[in-house]
Amino acid sequence: MKHLRSIPELGVDGIVRILNLADHMVEVNRRPVPKVPALVGRTVVSLFFEDSTRTRISFETAAKRLSADTMTFSVSTSSVNKGESLRDTIETVSAMGVAAFIVRHKTSGVPWQLSDWTDASIINAGDGWHQHPTQALLDCHTIRTELGRAASADCLAGVRIAIVGDVRHSRVARSDIQAFTALGASVVVVAPRTLLPPEVHTWPVEVTSNLDEVIGDVDVLYMLRMQRERMNEALVPDLGEYSNRFGLDRTRASRLRAECLVMHPGPMNRGVEMMVDPSDLARSVITRQVSNGVAVRMAVLFDVLGEANSEVSS
Ligand code: NCD
Repeated sequence: MKHLRSIPELGVDGIVRILNLADHMVEVNRRPVPKVPALVGRTVVSLFFEDSTRTRISFETAAKRLSADTMTFSVSTSSVNKGESLRDTIETVSAMGVAAFIVRHKTSGVPWQLSDWTDASIINAGDGWHQHPTQALLDCHTIRTELGRAASADCLAGVRIAIVGDVRHSRVARSDIQAFTALGASVVVVAPRTLLPPEVHTWPVEVTSNLDEVIGDVDVLYMLRMQRERMNEALVPDLGEYSNRFGLDRTRASRLRAECLVMHPGPMNRGVEMMVDPSDLARSVITRQVSNGVAVRMAVLFDVLGEANSEVSS
């Protein structure tokens, strides 16, 4: 696979391939020196046009553990501020000899556009409301490992997952729904009508606006961040009312099944969607998602850049 731009492009076979590789990377990360020479001499550039902490650091950690050289292109101090176009930027940086770009941009579709302008691999770290494929892969990896299941095309069969909150503006929700259902899970989307995308009826999900109706009946509760920066209009009357209906508070937490996993992609809005401290929950795997993120991104980088015969375990 040359690029990782979306879950549909990756397909179910690709998802399973990455999940299998991720198991190997988890093992690498447990070693006293968690580093392998798989990508020695390759340069990976992170190109983030939108704020990020965990995703950028996670990718850079992953690249370093595979011994790649890493560079960060920081938009706020770059020639983009002098009016340089996206095309000129990518062509200039490519000319320095880059194996892969990790790209985050507020506009949907940018990763596809960039791949027309460079021979390097493109890894999508989030484009607009559209896709965030590595988040979906790390979420699949987290769920199936917590359930003790090996990677396979139906490793999430029989798992019922509620995705709660601002689905409309969420690239995480879109990518997760595609990946979870591809692996056999059933998904129920829980949101106020104004935070659902108009095309939700074409998605392979159930839809409800009543969290209390489903909360006691799911295997995974996936809370989304309220995306205040992506809202052009007032889609909820006020955040307090949103929290009352869609936030995870103590009462709702007490109704979760004992084995129900609680997940969040981060960054969390405490007091908005998360009214409880995740550490007070029996099975919050939010920190696990972050640590799995490194292993899954190592798997993605290796899949995209590793030579077919390079020795990852040496
Ligand atoms: C997500 C993102 O940026 O899409 N965060 C992340 O990658 N960890 C989710 C979000 O910002 O709500």
